[in-house]
Amino acid sequence: MKLFSSFQLGSLQLPNRVVMAPMTRSRAIGALPNDLMRTYYAQRASAGLVITEGVAPSPNGLGYARIPGLYARTQIERWREITDAVHAEGGRIFAQLMHTGRITHPLNQPDGARVLAPSAVRAAGTMYTDQQGPQPHAEPEEMTEDDLRATRDEFVQAARNAVLAGFDGVELHAANGYLLEQFLHPHTNRRTDAYGGRVEHRARFIAEVAEASASAIGAERVGIRLSPYSTYNDMPLHDEVDALYTTLVASLRGLAYVHLVANAHPGFGPLVRRLRDEYRGPLMLNGGYDLARASADVEAGRAELISFGRPFIANPDLVTRFERGAELASPRPELFYTPGPEGYVDYPAL
Ligand SMILES: Cc1cc2nc3c(=O)[nH]c(=O)nc-3n(C[C@H](O)[C@H](O)[C@H](O)COP(=O)(O)O)c2cc1C
Repeated sequence: MKLFSSFQLGSLQLPNRVVMAPMTRSRAIGALPNDLMRTYYAQRASAGLVITEGVAPSPNGLGYARIPGLYARTQIERWREITDAVHAEGGRIFAQLMHTGRITHPLNQPDGARVLAPSAVRAAGTMYTDQQGPQPHAEPEEMTEDDLRATRDEFVQAARNAVLAGFDGVELHAANGYLLEQFLHPHTNRRTDAYGGRVEHRARFIAEVAEASASAIGAERVGIRLSPYSTYNDMPLHDEVDALYTTLVASLRGLAYVHLVANAHPGFGPLVRRLRDEYRGPLMLNGGYDLARASADVEAGRAELISFGRPFIANPDLVTRFERGAELASPRPELFYTPGPEGYVDYPAL
């Protein structure tokens, strides 16, 4: 089965095409990676590639309770222990750089952090906080030119820090309604400068972050995640999705991969085919996959790589189970984001 054949991703040789999708697990007390996380990632090292949970490139990017960062020396040192453990198990690991932008609450951020977004448009809905339970999302500040520069630099520095911490690369999180996608979308981006307005302008910030990160650590070590047609995190549908993503992806040639999160919108499938022609580089697909569909998509050349989220939570040895046709364990969603080992490192391998 082609899904279990090796794939050359830049200079990395992946032993199979089954990728562990990025998943926030909220075990990083004080935004610091720890031993529990080391165990969790080492248990899953037989994935062709592990992509970490969303990791904040700066305190401003810490939207959720207990998510890790990659901007302070101690964070880099702790991540180093995790990447060493994954490599010792024979694995490869990318850090997902996630700046949550307006999807946050000040209680989830350290003192002095700011809630930034392309425009001052508050997200509908609530954000969970450990201190006071669910709270309305914060009202973001519209980013100034200085903020744009500083935030771009934070991504670049976090990419460098990832390399220092022993990661094989980074994935820029430009999906699911977080800061980078907030630039793309007309609902969250109402700017009238060179970063707002027509699609070329709205794609500009992401393109700049991608290009600067690629020149800092090498394009073959920078992937990107996109979720066209997703409405997650208060991103209402609009009628420029195809034009927007075609324009954006054309500016991303040379990156390690483009990672697309599938959804049920009828426009998603046709857009993927268009982006595939436009992009040429490695494509990773995600969302609701099982072995049969993953294998079919890889065989048919619709994607080089398939990432699995929830199946990896309860099946640390997912690749082996797939290869043997073994039954999969089901994850316990009530323990997805709870602190501590339960529902995290206690799912056994076969
Ligand atoms: C517990 C949990 C946490 C997640 N956290 C992230 C995240 O930090 N970054 C991200 O890009 N996607 C995140 N996702 C989305 C997954 O990467 C993936 O897109 C989704 O689970 C669909 O894939 P699946 O059907 O294989 O689970 C998360 C999903 C789950 C279940």
